[in-house]
Amino acid sequence: MIVEPKVREFICTTAHPVGCYENVKNQIAYVKNQGIVEGPKKVLVIGASTGYGLASRITAAFGCQADTLGIMFERPSNGKRTATPGWYNTAAFEKEAEAAGLYAKSMNGDAFSKEVKEQAIEMIRKDLGQVDLVVYSLAAPRRTTADGVTWSSSLKTTDAPFTEKSLDLRTNTIVTKTVEPAEEGELEGTIKVMGGEDWMDWMDALHEAGVLAENAVTVAYSYIGPKLTYPIYNDGTIGQAKKHLTKTANEINEKYPDVKAYISVNKALVTQASSAIPIVPLYFAILYKVMKEQGTHEGCIQQISRLFHDKLFAKTIPVDEEGRIRMDDWELSDEVQNAVMKCWKEVTTENVEQISDIEGYWQDFYQMFGFKLDGVDYSKDVNIEVQIPSLV
Ligand code: NAI
Repeated sequence: MIVEPKVREFICTTAHPVGCYENVKNQIAYVKNQGIVEGPKKVLVIGASTGYGLASRITAAFGCQADTLGIMFERPSNGKRTATPGWYNTAAFEKEAEAAGLYAKSMNGDAFSKEVKEQAIEMIRKDLGQVDLVVYSLAAPRRTTADGVTWSSSLKTTDAPFTEKSLDLRTNTIVTKTVEPAEEGELEGTIKVMGGEDWMDWMDALHEAGVLAENAVTVAYSYIGPKLTYPIYNDGTIGQAKKHLTKTANEINEKYPDVKAYISVNKALVTQASSAIPIVPLYFAILYKVMKEQGTHEGCIQQISRLFHDKLFAKTIPVDEEGRIRMDDWELSDEVQNAVMKCWKEVTTENVEQISDIEGYWQDFYQMFGFKLDGVDYSKDVNIEVQIPSLV
């Protein structure tokens, strides 16, 4: 089949298997180029198939020579529809890992569930013995808890409506968007889905099963962003969930003195999760432009490679006053933020293409789904029914 992108606002409903392979290969090449990190050897990545989780898995495997078990929630192809990009990425990752002599297995299921936790523990016991790094990189719209209740995550403010400029992704025009305050239960739901409760459940289960190595490290990813987006992000429902995640890191450290839990506050990047947040894509497009001009732009793989090299596995781990690792150090520098705010004030539909890196935004967006990658012949027929070796 010849696969073409089918974009509906902030989602693409098709993915290109060869393009996704290329994407993974490019990330592996980047990590190999950075040299070896003296880091973990047996790694569990929860949310391993796209974005920051995939970058973590690739960095652990190809930067630390680690065995990896990756957990994801992806859809295979049914012969007519393509698989999701995370499916193709994982197939590509496993093939490359195998060729490099690295253990790599994956599980496709709901990481929030007890069953998946039990299966993961079983697999760790059987194949790895113990893990010395657990990366928690889930971004999900909903979670069903053990009592059968399904909670939904929402992107709302926690007080007044918030009105700001926004990029209409269907037309690439600047519009004004209002984000409404959360209604009853929405804040609680967001904390249930994107807060730290499930991370703690994982750590409890792994610890109890004795599959955590002594001095194991666990890291979960967070975001803060500039004051401009505080009403929708940091002070919004998602920000409250992220505060709960930070609180959970402290609780893990208190509960399990032989485990080191960290929050890494990462940079804003186009991923499937982030492109769904209103107002934020315009900030991203301007941020990309400014950081590219200043020579400090990074993608997920550059962020995570720098996290492993310079911070998480450095002799002393630099943290802020709340104990968090700050990978958003470059994004939030005055130099970057002053330039971003100037552009924000000036941006209109007429100048959006000059003032922001809308092209870079869309390039990242398409590449997430395996499109617009150099060296891929998109006019060629491809097999969309790709198997993930460890799931066959
Ligand atoms: P993403 O959408 O690219 O990745 C989400 C991952 O979670 C995928 O591997 C997906 O398969 C998996 N997943 C989702 N639901 C699942 C479930 N029920 N069971 C098992 N796996 C499931 O998202 P992204 O952006 O990489 O986000 C990862 C973390 O990084 C999130 O906590 C996010 O808040 C954080 N972050 C993201 C930033 C961004 O700008 N994209 C910035 C800073 C932090």
